[in-house]
Amino acid sequence: MNQKVTVVGAGNVGATAAQRIVEKELADVVLIDIIEGVPQGKSLDLSQAAPIEKHDAHLTGTNAYEDTTNSDIVIITAGIPRKPGMSRDDLLSTNRGIIKNVTKQVVKYSPNAILIIVSNPLDAMCHVAMEESGFPKHRVIGMAGVLDSARFRAFISMELNVSVENIHALVLGGHGDTMVPLPRFSTVAGVPITELLSPERIEAMATRTRNGGAEIVSLLKTGSAYYAPASAAVEMAESILKDKKKILPCTAYLEGEYGISGLFVGVPVKLGKNGIEQIISLKLTADEKKALDKSAAAVQELVDAMKKMA
Ligand code: APR
Repeated sequence: MNQKVTVVGAGNVGATAAQRIVEKELADVVLIDIIEGVPQGKSLDLSQAAPIEKHDAHLTGTNAYEDTTNSDIVIITAGIPRKPGMSRDDLLSTNRGIIKNVTKQVVKYSPNAILIIVSNPLDAMCHVAMEESGFPKHRVIGMAGVLDSARFRAFISMELNVSVENIHALVLGGHGDTMVPLPRFSTVAGVPITELLSPERIEAMATRTRNGGAEIVSLLKTGSAYYAPASAAVEMAESILKDKKKILPCTAYLEGEYGISGLFVGVPVKLGKNGIEQIISLKLTADEKKALDKSAAAVQELVDAMKKMA
């Protein structure tokens, strides 16, 4: 492999993302964590799976940022996950400190990398990473919309008993309770779900999507979702590494798009080798715009709360 992806945080999301990247032979992976031994042990374990999984991607487990030098992409999953009863916002202060520290180290060794942020509260952590890195907005991208849309797609597939491959869905806004599933832009083989399902059923699936993370936290009891979050981050990385130019809902820094300025919010973007290559502006109805504004206001609240922190 000649491309290099660093995954910061060798916990559930990070290790699963590393596994998916090497198994797809997208890049060599450096897995880094603050805990000594864990990234080394997981990397060695994954390397020993390679002959069976039949890939030749290399894995390095480390606690030293020197080893991350010249990464093309850095996926940041470091931080603490939610426990039952906690909202993503409850993680704000702890994860802010962690993301600040991690970003500083990452950019020192990979000044040209594209950052994919996974740690929660996601939208706020994107602000921290952009501020700390000084990177341009097209190189700081949050993973939320791909995950939230995948959850919506999974629920639509279960409801209609149709292949997930036939289903596209769009969820915009912040990665919190106010996220905005958009049924008009969610389709089964090209047909909007608004023509296939009752408004009540659609609303039930939209609500389950909004609570998708909490549903899993309450089942797991000791941590939060990680298979789907890792898949989502890797789909974004793949589009960048292969310059596929996929249109994916991602958390992007808006400067006037959708009437929102100076804020990270989930919108459809085109992902290619330069990171975010275009922000796609959709024409929203008045109700959809109102919901997006409400979601943006929730992100703004967290950003304001961080400004008051030392
Ligand atoms: N530098 C590097 N790694 C760190 C640091 C740090 N400063 N602080 C914590 N970590 C590591 C932890 O040691 C742990 O291995 O981050 C890892 C987090 O892993 P988990 O606890 O398993 O959490 P995970 O489920 O992977 O979630 C990580 O992603 O989805 C979000 O809300 C979730 O913010 C959380 C993050």
